[in-house]
Amino acid sequence: MSEDTGTRVKWLDVLWLVLLAGLALLPPLNEFHKQLTLLAIGIVQLAESRIVSRLPRPGPHIVVLLKIILATVLINHTGEVSINSSYYPVYYFPVVTAAVYFGTWGTLLWTLLASAAYCSFLYPALQQYELTATGAGELAIRILFFFLAAMVVNRFALENRRQTTRYQKLAEQLAETNRQLERVQAEARRSERLAALGQLSAGLAHEIRNPLGVIKGSAETLNRKLENTNPLASELAGYISSEVNRVSALVTRFLDFARPLRTEVRPLQVTNLLDQALETVAKQWQGEKIEVRRGYQQDLPTIPLDENLCEQAFVNLIQNAYDAMSGTGGVLHAEVREAQSNGRSGVQLRLQDTGPGIPAEMREQVFNPFVTTKKSGVGLGLSIVSKIVDEHHGTIRLDNSQGQGACFEIFFPAEEQA
Ligand SMILES: Nc1ncnc2c1ncn2[C@@H]1O[C@H](COP(=O)(O)OP(=O)(O)O)[C@@H](O)[C@H]1O
Ligand SMILES: [Mg+2]
Repeated sequence: MSEDTGTRVKWLDVLWLVLLAGLALLPPLNEFHKQLTLLAIGIVQLAESRIVSRLPRPGPHIVVLLKIILATVLINHTGEVSINSSYYPVYYFPVVTAAVYFGTWGTLLWTLLASAAYCSFLYPALQQYELTATGAGELAIRILFFFLAAMVVNRFALENRRQTTRYQKLAEQLAETNRQLERVQAEARRSERLAALGQLSAGLAHEIRNPLGVIKGSAETLNRKLENTNPLASELAGYISSEVNRVSALVTRFLDFARPLRTEVRPLQVTNLLDQALETVAKQWQGEKIEVRRGYQQDLPTIPLDENLCEQAFVNLIQNAYDAMSGTGGVLHAEVREAQSNGRSGVQLRLQDTGPGIPAEMREQVFNPFVTTKKSGVGLGLSIVSKIVDEHHGTIRLDNSQGQGACFEIFFPAEEQA
């Protein structure tokens, strides 16, 4: 597009020069100063956009002033009696330029100045001639037309500027809506993925659980039967049974994760739940010192929440933040404020730590089950958080606009939804 504008501007420049050359070829022909002034006008015209973009504030004033000066010089060299010069419309250049760049008052002021410059030629004329009524009328008409032209162009330019700002605002709104849409789509994809994984693991876990029961029962019977006759076999049977217990515990966790949550909501203060969760995690903490900095807005509305589920979600998030800062210690910022999201009002929580943060390629995946970077991690924490937030019709996302650490942002709507 810029290339297109570029060629068009060049074209217009050439046209300008051709028109000025036309003026140069018309009488008075052997007036060197006139040709020079026309050349100067051409140069100012060509340099105008560059001057205005380099000096956005004084640029337009400089250009208009230069044009008034050049127009005055041209008039001075194109008539026996300068005020009668046929080149007087050259004052339209500065007048129209002012109308394009300035508001109404600015335009009027510059037009007045241009008119004054033109009228200044009255003084030498009056030394030799007298001002007739027709002469004065003619002068008044010319000046009035300066003002009319200025007003017509100014109105058009102002309207144009208004439209441009409107389109800019619209474009910004559109871009913001687009970003929101992308975010919502990503969240929807995540929920779907979690739901599918949940179903799959539920089916699998269920199928595994029954044979596990049989294996465990048999191993325990063997253990008892062989206790006296074959101690080695009995010990091995004991291993079978204890390992089955481990697998069984894991399966139970699978099932807990996959089972549809049953929420029992009632209006609660999010900050109370958050404080409880912060305390729970801090009590069991054994790593380096972690400072919690709270930033709670006053008079927050209550939100329909399930107390146990939400506390569990907060504990998971806070535990992750503590884990992330375990080696070095750090600060956990917990902020809660009223907010709007997609046209819904509610409460927004931000939990930000000063740990190493989450690498870009992992940001979407951390919400998937069994994604973990910890030696003893299971990777269910964040997927459970995500599920709980979904269940409250809220949203959760990783905010990566902050430089350091990880920042989770959760929104809970104030109104219950169907
Ligand atoms: N605050 C955090 N800072 C850095 N990494 C985090 C943070 N929270 C979560 N993660 C990353 O996300 C992974 C998944 O977290 P989670 O689902 O809670 O499972 P787990 O804690 O069992 O690993 C973690 O292993 C860790 O890599
Ligand atoms: Mg975790």
